[in-house]
Amino acid sequence: MSEEKTKLSGPDLTQGVELSTIPDGTMLLGHARGEPVLLARRGEEVFAIGAICTHYGAPLEQGLLVGDTVRCPWHHACFSLRTGETLRAPALDPVSRWRVEEVRDRARQFTPVQRRVGAVYVREKLSGQPSPAVHDNRITIVIVGGGAAGNAAAETLRHEGHASRITMLSADGSMPCDRPNLSKGYLAGTASDESNLLRSAKFYKDRKIDLHLGAHVAAVDVGNRYVELADGRQYAYGTLLLATGADPVRIELPGGDLPHVHYLRTLADGRALVAKALASRCAVVIGASFIGLEVAASLRARNIDVHVVGPETIPMEKILGPEVGNFIRKLHEEHGVTFHLGTTATSIDERSITLKNGEKIQADLVVVGIGVRPATSLAERAGLAVDRGVIVDEYLETSVPGVFAAGDIARWPDRLTGERIRVEHFVVAERQGQTAARNILGHRERFDAVPFFWTEQYDFGLAYVGHAEHWDKAEIEGSLERRDCTVTYRLGDRKLAVAVVHRDLEGLRAEVEFERMIARNSPGAQTVQNSASPVRQAQAAIRGS
Ligand SMILES: Cc1cc2nc3c(=O)[nH]c(=O)nc-3n(C[C@H](O)[C@H](O)[C@H](O)COP(=O)(O)OP(=O)(O)OC[C@H]3O[C@@H](n4cnc5c(N)ncnc54)[C@H](O)[C@@H]3O)c2cc1C
Ligand code: FES
Repeated sequence: MSEEKTKLSGPDLTQGVELSTIPDGTMLLGHARGEPVLLARRGEEVFAIGAICTHYGAPLEQGLLVGDTVRCPWHHACFSLRTGETLRAPALDPVSRWRVEEVRDRARQFTPVQRRVGAVYVREKLSGQPSPAVHDNRITIVIVGGGAAGNAAAETLRHEGHASRITMLSADGSMPCDRPNLSKGYLAGTASDESNLLRSAKFYKDRKIDLHLGAHVAAVDVGNRYVELADGRQYAYGTLLLATGADPVRIELPGGDLPHVHYLRTLADGRALVAKALASRCAVVIGASFIGLEVAASLRARNIDVHVVGPETIPMEKILGPEVGNFIRKLHEEHGVTFHLGTTATSIDERSITLKNGEKIQADLVVVGIGVRPATSLAERAGLAVDRGVIVDEYLETSVPGVFAAGDIARWPDRLTGERIRVEHFVVAERQGQTAARNILGHRERFDAVPFFWTEQYDFGLAYVGHAEHWDKAEIEGSLERRDCTVTYRLGDRKLAVAVVHRDLEGLRAEVEFERMIARNSPGAQTVQNSASPVRQAQAAIRGS
């Protein structure tokens, strides 16, 4: 979040506002003691919480109230109005909460403190969050993977009161980082190494999360419950979470391993790419999907000449449809990118790459973004069921009891599509880490979050809710040109996913609509214990509506 002094708007809530100005189900942005504060009314209750999302600083008053929560307009984090807690990633920190005083009867208005009948006043900031019950179950939990899912799981375990040992083993040399930003702000030069970390070293130390970096797990013995590192060290576990993510697909062609050919997955990859970009004038990006195009946009921000090569004729057509794909191509062309589509690279040398038709493109930097493969080999060798991902049940437990999996590697039974799916989205990985952690502690919480991802290229942003691996209709409502539209993806009559361009509220509403669809089909879900469960929230909303 920006360190700049926050600009305040709306009324000073310490001076009171008339309750009638906050109808049921609405929010009011104001401020208290120099901080932006959100007042939200649900029925007879009025809540006051910090107004700025703790993820990237979105204004929460532009989000959506769902039950006693508010959802962030940008990347759909969910905060409790009662406690300020973040119930769902990607925000990891709570917002502040404030005491609200409501004056309903005349007898209470004659006090030394200013009070008007029918008004609500925001009083002092309330300290701390409610403490969870301590789970002193003495289970040693080992997490393999220090990425989105692994980090979210470790944090959630402590947050939920797990008091015993948590060991996080990460092959990465860097601490868990904001991977999506590597191709965006980090590569464009607006984020530093430090600001790109999810947490500081102190954070893990304070919470006694034993984080080992450069710790490559070579084997898991599920019979004797221990993992073994490549250097022979062993860690016994009571419960294991595998969150090994995905590895970039390597390009196989002559010159593919030259030093100026880069991939982007880790912070170290990002650092190396930035260093090379600083000394480059012309780049070729191989791959015209999300990472490739975000990289292209960020390199343009550094004024590097960029060419994009891809086998498709329209970028991202398969996922987003021809209209959006063509729009994105035009957007990049307007920013000076040259496309070479319907073709592939056949070789790379120190100064250029050669395409199938013999054309040579000058390149002192090559970035390859041709997809990733889930890192499932460890699970496979351990004997877990693997089929294009590690197979997990609705509680994210693998075929071996006591071994859970989350994030890019997990293929789970999705109740929206009725299929087993695996996605490569940051928010999904974090939410799976959170759910897996609660299930490790015995909550029996189904993983029901509706898949969500976003992309940012130049000043264009798109958010995608749902999952449409196969669709036959992409209906656009609004205008792509004006950057104000909703695209609905259907298969037959079934609505599978929605993409929104600068229509945050519509994206949130689509998420809630999908959650309600799941809730209607899930009679057993009433037993879900945790209010972080979107299905529980949706069921409560259905009952209330
Ligand atoms: C450049 C880039 C941009 C992206 N942009 C977006 C975006 O805009 N929106 C979006 O939704 N998603 C985006 N993604 C995808 C998103 O980052 C991933 O879906 C998410 O990080 C997956 O989380 P994960 O925890 O499963 O895996 P990861 O975050 O990859 O973490 C895996 C961890 O496991 C470790 N590991 C692997 N094998 C072993 C082993 N044998 N032993 C020990 N440790 C091991 C790795 O070192 C790493 O720490 C982007 C990804 C990249 C690379
Ligand atoms: S800014 Fe709120 S979730 Fe990202």
